[in-house]
Amino acid sequence: MATAPRVKSPRAQARTARWAEAGSKSAALFARAQGVLPGGNSRTTVYMAPYPPYAAAGDGCWITDVEGDRRLDCLNNYTALIHGHAHPSIVEAATRRLALGASFPMPTPEEIELATLLCERLPSAERVRFTNSGSEAVMIALKGARAFTGRPKIAKFEGAYHGSYDYAEVSLSSSPENWGSLSAPVSTAYSKGTPQAVLDDVVVLPFNYTEHAIARIEREAQHLAAVLVDPVPNRVGLVPAHREFLQALREVTRAHGIVLIFDEVISFRVGYQGAQGALGITPDATTLGKIIGGGFPVGAVAGRADVMSVFDPTRGGPPAAPHGGTFNANPVTMAAGLAGMRMLTREAYDRLDDLGAKLRSSLDDCFRQAGVSGRVTGMGSLFRLHAVDRELTDYRSTRTTPAEGERLVRLVRRLMEHGVLMSVTGLGCLSTPMGDAELEGLVETFAAVLEMERAG
Ligand SMILES: Cc1ncc(COP(=O)(O)O)c(C=O)c1O
Repeated sequence: MATAPRVKSPRAQARTARWAEAGSKSAALFARAQGVLPGGNSRTTVYMAPYPPYAAAGDGCWITDVEGDRRLDCLNNYTALIHGHAHPSIVEAATRRLALGASFPMPTPEEIELATLLCERLPSAERVRFTNSGSEAVMIALKGARAFTGRPKIAKFEGAYHGSYDYAEVSLSSSPENWGSLSAPVSTAYSKGTPQAVLDDVVVLPFNYTEHAIARIEREAQHLAAVLVDPVPNRVGLVPAHREFLQALREVTRAHGIVLIFDEVISFRVGYQGAQGALGITPDATTLGKIIGGGFPVGAVAGRADVMSVFDPTRGGPPAAPHGGTFNANPVTMAAGLAGMRMLTREAYDRLDDLGAKLRSSLDDCFRQAGVSGRVTGMGSLFRLHAVDRELTDYRSTRTTPAEGERLVRLVRRLMEHGVLMSVTGLGCLSTPMGDAELEGLVETFAAVLEMERAG
């Protein structure tokens, strides 16, 4: 892939901005949606001001909106679609299973197959429990850790996103006005109305600051059921955890009988054995989601057999942590997930990792060559753009000021207007249908968009 793209005139880049025109189909759909959905919306993350384009279809690494504009999909439903859209093998597996019935009040063989695959790949997985989303997986993992240890509190990292369970949301949006010291970050509410009791039961730690984090865990150890950490946390700037940092968490949690949970809902993308395999640290439990469902709703907790035994109903009486769910392990998701995961061979991961490394370096070069402040973080097939020029190590250094945030939104919007879809937060990821040609196009568009930014 070229690292020094020749910048075409912005006018030469394909325009994909019909959704933003007055009278567009997306504008009409959003107007209708506002009458029946709060803010026209079912998912905070997919809103963009003043309204988003509506999707019509996806095919491989391309997504077409209802206006008929086609974009390179560098978001892949927030990292879930590692094989892009409508992969024939996944479509075949899901429709074949769907034709036999969508869900049953009985277990099906498919859940055993997918659980077996996960146990073979993830170092921490001896048993698996399926849910319908990553949020539920985190909720169940934390409840399981409380049941296993008999302790009430959990520890999580400042700024890290783990879905929409109250406890996991604490300090997701802390700001300089309320975040307190690095040695004892304040537990702040994300959602108005979060009970004080929830805040009191969450110990907030600073990401990648080993000494501060370990000291705080030691101070709270006797009350802590779990330490929850995402090894490549998107909302903490997609800056990977230092290996020594994770190693220190491993040691302190083991010493105090605290369940160490890796949230690999996104980071299972970074290695055949997850981030835990890539970094060589094995937690007690792992939460999963996104790629393991082949594009269908999914989540899972995988962990050591003794930790996972809290969900076991065969031991007489109710399990220590009862866990139901009408659609848990539904066979359509399981079949689609199995088809997708089987295609994710070590070679497929290696190829994606190579593309990801080249892309991050090319995008970084684009910032330098355009003379526009910016950095690119990430790992494996994940990347994140930052409209800042400072060292990025943790939540506090990656959190943008309002002006930096505006610049990033403008950049992403311009990409969107020129054939590339990313998140307004700067998150992007690759899919297996992508190759050098798509990434060259992406880098060229990025360079052109930076040129527009430089020119004001
Ligand atoms: C690290 C992490 N954990 C948990 C979740 C929640 O997963 P879901 O959106 O499937 O509920 C997400 C979602 O993006 C995530 O990034």
